[in-house]
Amino acid sequence: MSRVQTAPGSLPQYLPGTRELDDVELLRMGALAPTQGFGEAERPVTLEVPAAVAMRAQEAGALELVDPEGVPLAVLILDRAEPVSDDVMSLIGPIRALPGIIRRPFSELYAPPSETKASLDRAVLSVAVAAPLTVSDLDDIRRRAGSAPVLFIVMAGIGTPVGVSAHGLIRATLVAAESFKESHVVVVPIAARRESEDDAEFRATVVAAYAPGPEILWPAGVGELPNDIAVVVERDRPSGLDQGLVVFLTGLSGSGKSTLAEALRDHVLENGIRTISLLDGDRVRRNLSAGLTFSPEDRETNIERIGWVAAEISRHGGMVICSPIAPFDRTRRRAREMAQEVGSAFVLIHVATPLEECERRDRKGLYAKARRGEIEQFTGISSPYEVPGDADLRIDTVGRSVGEVLTAILDLLKSRGHLA
Ligand code: ADX
Repeated sequence: MSRVQTAPGSLPQYLPGTRELDDVELLRMGALAPTQGFGEAERPVTLEVPAAVAMRAQEAGALELVDPEGVPLAVLILDRAEPVSDDVMSLIGPIRALPGIIRRPFSELYAPPSETKASLDRAVLSVAVAAPLTVSDLDDIRRRAGSAPVLFIVMAGIGTPVGVSAHGLIRATLVAAESFKESHVVVVPIAARRESEDDAEFRATVVAAYAPGPEILWPAGVGELPNDIAVVVERDRPSGLDQGLVVFLTGLSGSGKSTLAEALRDHVLENGIRTISLLDGDRVRRNLSAGLTFSPEDRETNIERIGWVAAEISRHGGMVICSPIAPFDRTRRRAREMAQEVGSAFVLIHVATPLEECERRDRKGLYAKARRGEIEQFTGISSPYEVPGDADLRIDTVGRSVGEVLTAILDLLKSRGHLA
């Protein structure tokens, strides 16, 4: 008998990260058997949560895991929590599946391994797909399959598909499957592991759970794509001017970010090269982030929001220029990740005008106020700025005209095919 109350609404709720949500789905379907939950010894299936969430889970003895719409998917029955760092805990315990349904494209192609195995013959050739199948992959599959049917197991979890989105990989595999006399396609949310050296074994375990017979092929995904698959891939991940683009300018207040952002925007609009949105620091703080302070937490929230909106705009080919201070490395990297997850390019430009120069310009009089202690937590004075180690371009504006610096930015964007 479990002492845990699981009536709806009686447990603390938590929305796991996208990778962990994929793991919840695998656990719910029994695709990780004999693994029953998170944090089992020797298994790369972990759930790390903020310490406050862990505390609530410990008080209740369990945690309800929900999807982004708040639909309860599973209950984690807590065995124990172990600290990972000062404010992060790893939760350990089995999962009890709840009947919530995850809505997503191609949902009819997701199935538990038991169903897949029961519906197919052992003679089937299983093919584990992480990248669009190439001409040579398809030749290989045909040779190995002979007259046997083929089961394509599409590994569509977060971080696993190579060179395409999850939907793109599913579409590309459906096209490939059509060219076989008898084929089946099942989609499995196998997400990349935190440590990439765990990937191969993890994938092998899950794919083996789905494969009805012993024959499993792992295509290399190397070489030319057949034309019909190339069309699917190009539409899914456009290149050049059709690819979404986030240009992210970071630097101290008064470093010249807004001026450069506006000059770049004007250039793009004057040339009619592409559509464009500008998410400038001060402007965002008047609308999207109105009410936020300059505490480290609120700055992180501000940059997360900017990164999120930028990724959404770039998702279908738009160009965005962001120009907040963005003093923290972690959130800048998060913004890059969010853009890249949707297939967009992300270009980080450090406007590295030194503090002394920003303070000398002091167009808004804010540095003077900060020095007098009238503004708290002012970046560069009483709040840190972490210099980016991952900038695509670093520019110092001292002694250079706006036109000169703009040319340097345009040269970079053109050389990468983002502007004509
Ligand atoms: S961020 O740190 O969250 O990225 P953001 O770019 O949105 O900052 O806002 C910075 C602008 O807010 C500055 O250009 C300045 O005009 C104004 N500002 C007001 N208070 C502060 C402060 N304490 N630190 C930095 N900028 C401030």
